[in-house]
Amino acid sequence: MYSIDELQQKVTSSFSETALAKEPAALYEPIVYSLNLGGKRIRPLLVLLACDLFGGDVEKALPAATGIELFHNFTLLHDDIMDRAPLRRGKETVFKKWNTDTAILSGDTMFILACQYLARTGEEKLAEILQVFNKTALEVCEGQQYDMIYEKQENVSIEDYLGMIRLKTAVLLGCSLKTGAIIAGASPADTEKIFYFGENLGMAFQLQDDLLDAFGDESKFGKETGGDIVSGKKTFLYLKALELSDAGQKIRLATDYSASFRYPKKKIEGFKKIFSALKIQDETSKLISHYVNKARAFLNEIEVDAERKKELFKMVNTILCREY
Ligand code: IPE
Ligand code: IPE
Ligand code: MG
Ligand code: MG
Ligand code: MG
Repeated sequence: MYSIDELQQKVTSSFSETALAKEPAALYEPIVYSLNLGGKRIRPLLVLLACDLFGGDVEKALPAATGIELFHNFTLLHDDIMDRAPLRRGKETVFKKWNTDTAILSGDTMFILACQYLARTGEEKLAEILQVFNKTALEVCEGQQYDMIYEKQENVSIEDYLGMIRLKTAVLLGCSLKTGAIIAGASPADTEKIFYFGENLGMAFQLQDDLLDAFGDESKFGKETGGDIVSGKKTFLYLKALELSDAGQKIRLATDYSASFRYPKKKIEGFKKIFSALKIQDETSKLISHYVNKARAFLNEIEVDAERKKELFKMVNTILCREY
């Protein structure tokens, strides 16, 4: 069995070997730029951890792991256009540094590269891997569209929000783990369980991302904080605040949240104060714990020696303590 560090090393070297110095530079430079900034690379790590958990050969899972991370990076290039986000991984986003056209096409190219990498998976498992991946990729787009729809939609419930983050974020974590399990030849029952482990972890992950977007330390987070508030994203923080405020406050809160402010910083400060007064951070942490506990329960159920699960449990804690 490998440690998290060893598997991380494999992911890192796989990316340093990803030869992308191709022409035209205007297409590939933004790709190299994004990939070199790295990010946490949680998804490929999850692919390898799941493969190793079930005693598979992690080398065989590396192309799929790389492919899933390329897909994730593609979604980020387009997401930053849609969210008008100026910063990612502590640097200018691609559409800011270059332009929107470039971010669209370099993003599309990353999606194609992702497919190429996934297709390198051994023939025996390829059909199943692609089926899971294609289903997930569609769901991510569906979730991303709900995210955009909800920005403008007045009535969004917490249930709607949870459904949206399940699609845009959680299923890709589940898919990563499931991919590793399939390559390792895990049983269908365990393959499902590792998916649900990842999906629940993914719910916690996005809730935490939303929390960090409002209350994180920008220099650590690597993204501009307050962006969700400025664009009126229907996050759990906002929806819970709405639920907890009285009838009079509710209308004011809703009107202000969907309005665009001349001084965005004022909107951010105002809503952070409201969230803090209503103890929304605690509410969010409670929900994060709920999903993490569900995730842990699925991992516990998997029919593999507890000793082998240690690295994945560690990974849960690492994700939970993240500041970026
Ligand atoms: C960002 O994902 C998008 C979300 C689903 C919140 P990550 O937080 O994994 O981003 P990187 O890859 O580490 O930069
Ligand atoms: C992530 O949602 C959704 C994706 C699938 C890209 P966010 O819009 O919250 O992600 P960040 O915060 O920009 O990384
Ligand atoms: Mg977004
Ligand atoms: Mg975004
Ligand atoms: Mg976010």
